[in-house]
Amino acid sequence: MHDDLEQRKSQHLDLVQRAEVEPDGSDPLFSCVRLIHRALPELALSDVDLSVELCGKTLRAPLMIVGMTGGTERAGQINRDLAAIAQEEGVAFGVGSMRILFDQPDLLSTFAPRSARPPLLFANLGAQQLAQRGSSAALQLIELLGADGICIHLNPAQELVQADGDRDFRGCLDAIGKLAAELGPRLVVKETGCGIGPAVALELQARGVRCIDVSGRGGTSWTRVEQLRAKTDEARDLGTLFSDWGIPTAACVLAVRAAAPGLQIIASGGVRSGLDAARAIALGADVAGFALPLVRAHQEGGVEAAQRVLRSAVAALRAACLLSGARNLLALRASAPVLLEPLRSWAEQLAR
Ligand SMILES: Cc1cc2nc3c(=O)[nH]c(=O)nc-3n(C[C@H](O)[C@H](O)[C@H](O)COP(=O)(O)O)c2cc1C
Repeated sequence: MHDDLEQRKSQHLDLVQRAEVEPDGSDPLFSCVRLIHRALPELALSDVDLSVELCGKTLRAPLMIVGMTGGTERAGQINRDLAAIAQEEGVAFGVGSMRILFDQPDLLSTFAPRSARPPLLFANLGAQQLAQRGSSAALQLIELLGADGICIHLNPAQELVQADGDRDFRGCLDAIGKLAAELGPRLVVKETGCGIGPAVALELQARGVRCIDVSGRGGTSWTRVEQLRAKTDEARDLGTLFSDWGIPTAACVLAVRAAAPGLQIIASGGVRSGLDAARAIALGADVAGFALPLVRAHQEGGVEAAQRVLRSAVAALRAACLLSGARNLLALRASAPVLLEPLRSWAEQLAR
């Protein structure tokens, strides 16, 4: 079983290099958000302050490299390199699911960033494993990694397409509530590309969760990845049918911010530039998250290529702030962008 898990993680890294993992027509809807140009910014670029507080820590820019990998030597190199660039740019970093460590603790080094220490570092575990093993398992992973907190991921759509995936999703909310009572702001609950809408966000908030990563539709599709891995017709058909399932990321952010003003929001899922990050923040996100663009750049051109992607995101975000006349992220959040269809309808109908 362990070898399967290792093999699956390795296949995932190969498969996400393929264009089809971002299905045609699956759109995060950031293009429906138009920041309003200010011809007289009356700001110097160096005046723009991108710093933000997330989960009790200060980041130099409102970005996070969200959890992807671990468990193999190749994954270890990715984690070490991405953690190093996160530290350099002063942004948050999360490792991928650490479930494998319960059976193979010797693989810890493939998650640990070693010399690098980003300002905010997250462990990662699936909600079903949390429900089975309890809060102590999550606390143990935080401790092992020397992390600031943990991201608990929700991925029911991906599991259903996996031939041997989970089929029982009961008990996760209770388990998350217990962990929230122990961790407070050190807990993030995240989706993995299908989105958290306002109803689930409010349920999580009622259980004490203070920060979520909506991880919406429009970027990496895990139902598509599992479709590409499928060995049975049944799994392949389900993956094909559900490859663009989910709530677009921009709609998640807009609707969750309206429903839960006190919740911290990370927006990942199809964020592909610093301009997308600026749009997510203008909609109400605190931080924008990238997965696919960084792992792809890393696999194609190593640490330098990944660093270029992150640096250009920071530069474009800064430019978007200046051109909107926003001196800081609070001003960007207050800038009231023009919203186009279908984003407006999505947000309106999610609010019902
Ligand atoms: C190669 C890869 C592996 C991933 N593995 C995990 C994981 O182990 N745990 C998790 O919470 N999310 C995982 N994700 C999901 C991402 O954290 C993110 O929510 C999702 O990919 C959407 O962001 P994107 O469109 O920028 O890729 C993974 C993503 C990628 C690309």
